[in-house]
Amino acid sequence: MTGHLSWPIKTSFRRYVEAMPDGVVSVDSGARLLATTIHFPLETPLTPGEPLPSEIRFAGDVQFEGHGGRLAILFSELRLERTAGGHRLTIDHPWSVDGSLPRIPVAEVRWNRLASTHASSESVSLSSEGASLFNNAYERGSQLDQMSIELDVASP
Ligand code: HEM
Repeated sequence: MTGHLSWPIKTSFRRYVEAMPDGVVSVDSGARLLATTIHFPLETPLTPGEPLPSEIRFAGDVQFEGHGGRLAILFSELRLERTAGGHRLTIDHPWSVDGSLPRIPVAEVRWNRLASTHASSESVSLSSEGASLFNNAYERGSQLDQMSIELDVASP
C-alpha cells in the first residue's frame, strides 16, 4: 500500500535556516515541503495491520543550505532499519555514488502507537553521527521531531 513518512526533521533548525538571508530549504525526488512537516513517499509497500518490516525505504530529498555555502545538509534516501527497540533512521552519504560510501545513521526511533494504517514515534534520538551532521549544535541523544508513517486509505 502506498503512503508516506511525515517528518519535519527539526522545526527549530528549519526556522534557523529559513531566517538566514541566504537560507534555503528545498525538496526534490517526490518529497513535499509543507508548512509544518515534510512528506517522503513510501517506497517499500506496507500492509495495513501487519508489523512494520525490518527495512522501510522512502524516496524524496530535502536540502538545507545557508551561511554562504558553509551550511549544507542533504537528507536523501531515508531508510528505517529495525533494531532491538524500534528502527534506526539512516540516510545516504551525500558524496556516495551508487552506495559507494556507508550510509549515515541519524537517529534511533521508538514507536508509540502502531495502528493498522498509522505508526507514530515516541522518540527520535539523535546519534553521534547525526549530531556531527548538525555541526554538533545538538547533543547525541537529543530529540529530533517526532515522525509518523501514514498509509493511504483506499476510498470505497
Ligand atoms: C558559518 C558559520 C556559522 C555561524 C556564524 C553560525 C551561527 C549560529 C547561531 C548564532 C546559532 C544560534 C541561533 C539561534 O539561537 O537562533 C546557530 C544555531 C545552529 N547552527 Fe549554526 N552557525 C554556523 C554554521 C553552522 C553549520 C555549518 C551548521 C550545520 C551544518 C549549523 C547548524 C546549526 C544548528 C543545528 C543550530 C541550532 C538551531 C536550532 O535548533 O535552534 N551552523 N548557529
